[in-house]
Amino acid sequence: MKRALITGITGQDGSYLAELLIAKGYDVHGVIRRSSTFSTQRIEHLMFSDPPGVTLHYGDLSDGNGLMRLLREIQPHEVYNLAAQSHVSVSFAQPTYTADVTALGTLRMLEAIREVQDVTGRQIRFYQASSSEMFGKVVETPQTEATPFHPRSPYGVAKVYAHWATVNYREAYGLHASCGILFNHESPRRGETFVTRKITRAATRIKLGLQDKLYLGNLDAKRDWGFAGDYVEAMWLMLQQESPDDYVVASGETHSVAEFCDAVFSRLGMLAHEHVAFDPSQQRPAEVDLLLGNPAKAAQTLGWKPAHTFGDLVDMMVEHDKSVAKMEMLIALNGKPEGSALA
Ligand code: NAP
Ligand code: GDD
Repeated sequence: MKRALITGITGQDGSYLAELLIAKGYDVHGVIRRSSTFSTQRIEHLMFSDPPGVTLHYGDLSDGNGLMRLLREIQPHEVYNLAAQSHVSVSFAQPTYTADVTALGTLRMLEAIREVQDVTGRQIRFYQASSSEMFGKVVETPQTEATPFHPRSPYGVAKVYAHWATVNYREAYGLHASCGILFNHESPRRGETFVTRKITRAATRIKLGLQDKLYLGNLDAKRDWGFAGDYVEAMWLMLQQESPDDYVVASGETHSVAEFCDAVFSRLGMLAHEHVAFDPSQQRPAEVDLLLGNPAKAAQTLGWKPAHTFGDLVDMMVEHDKSVAKMEMLIALNGKPEGSALA
């Protein structure tokens, strides 16, 4: 049985990847951080299944010794490094922390893999969560694996470091290390401070009278948005190849934030411009104006293509958040159900 270790298992992608690997028969292990409140909502269905689908270990990308110990103990065949301080806006407020976790954290994991491989003589395949944010102020459109990087945020800079560190360990030490340069991917499990989920949460609440306005920053930015559940399959496919490599994973379509708003509000029978207001505090010191990926290499070499369209993604997120808003409405009207976890 293959064993996989996922850092960032409590995040959006970690939860979908864990489901995929369990379905493929893997023994799935995940790294979680200690926190004073639960951070495992996205994987509770895997933790409390019978038998449990995942084994969780405390760890942190800031703790290299801890990572090495985990690798020795678990002896994974594959490591998926999804953990990061992943919020672009937050990276402007916490640049040093972002560099420590997102950039140096990757280096710590690469070092741990190198050491443990040397001692055990067993190969550990490595996946690095690189990002289209590395293209930043894009020098060509669409972006491919050959497009030069021009990051526009401390997060983007940290991801460029982690990307090149991974390439360097592949070239210098022969690690089976691959980078997925993933363009934005969303889902009903997306964190609520990223723009798509912020929009679907707010619009569905506005529809039920639970909220008045949706405050957003730059509506003109364009993103290549796909469904996270499709994108984790590309991660797995990269580690099944004989040779490691880097791949752009994208939908090949781009839409503005304003278009995403229109699509969401129109599905709810409303007009976005009547409910969206400008919040200058949501603007970034430097913006990434346009992302559009060319996933031809992933299609050709990995046989990967997304199963869901932009429209499917919007439908899925709106439907999910309609249910969440209805639940909030019921709780507001009746209080939390007696004896429930919500009480
Ligand atoms: P996410 O939902 O924000 O999840 C991030 C994960 O990293 C969480 O599990 C978080 O744990 C964990 N984490 C943060 N700091 C950590 C640390 N110091 N040590 C260990 N774990 C830590 O992100 P995502 O959307 O799933 O994205 C997964 C990865 O892909 C990230 O590296 C992201 O930068 C990258 N990426 C994402 C996209 C996208 O559009 N989603 C596109 C390109 C690349 P807690 O739950 O404890 O906070
Ligand atoms: N978050 C947020 N909140 N973004 C807003 C808002 C707002 O209120 N208003 C406008 N935006 C704009 C941002 O300025 C940005 O241009 C765009 O919406 C998308 O923002 P996010 O959803 O926060 O995503 P991101 O593109 O900055 O970063 C995401 O994608 C990267 C891949 O390109 C994250 O998932 C990164 O981790 C990932 O690497």
